[in-house]
Amino acid sequence: MESHNTKRYSLPTEEEYEEFNQVQSRHYVLRYTWQANFSAPVHEKLLSGVKVLDIACGPGYWILDMASKYPKSEFTGVDKISFFPSELKPPNANFEKGDAFCLPYEEGTFDFIRMSLMSSIFSAEDWKNTILPDVLRMLKPGGYFESQEFDWNMINLGPCFGKLTNGFIQYLEINNIDKFICSNMEKYLRETNFIEINSIDVECRFWDGRYGRLVLDDFILSYKRIMLNFCNIIGIDEDQCFNLLSNLEEEVIDYKSSYKLYRFFGRKSF
Ligand SMILES: C[S@@+](CC[C@H](N)C(=O)[O-])C[C@H]1O[C@@H](n2cnc3c(N)ncnc32)[C@H](O)[C@@H]1O
Repeated sequence: MESHNTKRYSLPTEEEYEEFNQVQSRHYVLRYTWQANFSAPVHEKLLSGVKVLDIACGPGYWILDMASKYPKSEFTGVDKISFFPSELKPPNANFEKGDAFCLPYEEGTFDFIRMSLMSSIFSAEDWKNTILPDVLRMLKPGGYFESQEFDWNMINLGPCFGKLTNGFIQYLEINNIDKFICSNMEKYLRETNFIEINSIDVECRFWDGRYGRLVLDDFILSYKRIMLNFCNIIGIDEDQCFNLLSNLEEEVIDYKSSYKLYRFFGRKSF
């Protein structure tokens, strides 16, 4: 766990939040949740200067944050969509367009590789046969991998949130996505020959004041964006979906709804 902080991370202020887009806000909310950008024991390595890869980095907020904290290390973010910054970035941050199924990096290139929020992207076969073996290949001997995922087995959902989430889970099933990667990741890491595997989790409460509201807003915005994928599966139209979404703010408080966020990490043997 990142342990060098004397100052605690705080949530964005109301003014900052207005300026952030959803994904940027998510980065700060996740960092606040853990009070750390990572949990693998790599802080000393990062201080001394190592190579780091963030696979499917999205717009690259984790890379930008980490690159400014660890100026001696070299950070690469790769995503199949290039919506990351091309100019305004620290000199030790680099972004590349690339597909996680065929990354061009040589064997033993990186000291630390991470992936985050991919629970609705890959099938079990993808994780086991391609993604994790390739992560192991690209790591240096002794290097660490960390995966951060939330668990779709959410806790105490009320009828509206439950119905929407059930629709999305059915959509994942139809598309052969490994929807319960949090239950499987440790096993997959073991089978891929990672060693010193750890799993930690934290409960994120939708009803926990301003923090909970930011977490819920992220879900609501995500569900709005992807609702066309799952509305018809649960037999509702867009207006009915919006109606269900409008009930969530009160419902999560009444039902004390939450979900678990996980971090898994392990290393490549020497
Ligand atoms: C839910 S977002 C997560 C982004 C970021 N990791 C985070 O934690 O906020 C999923 C990301 O995976 C990327 N992605 C999906 N399939 C990919 C692939 N085959 N190769 C590289 N990136 C991929 C998408 O473009 C998107 O940026």
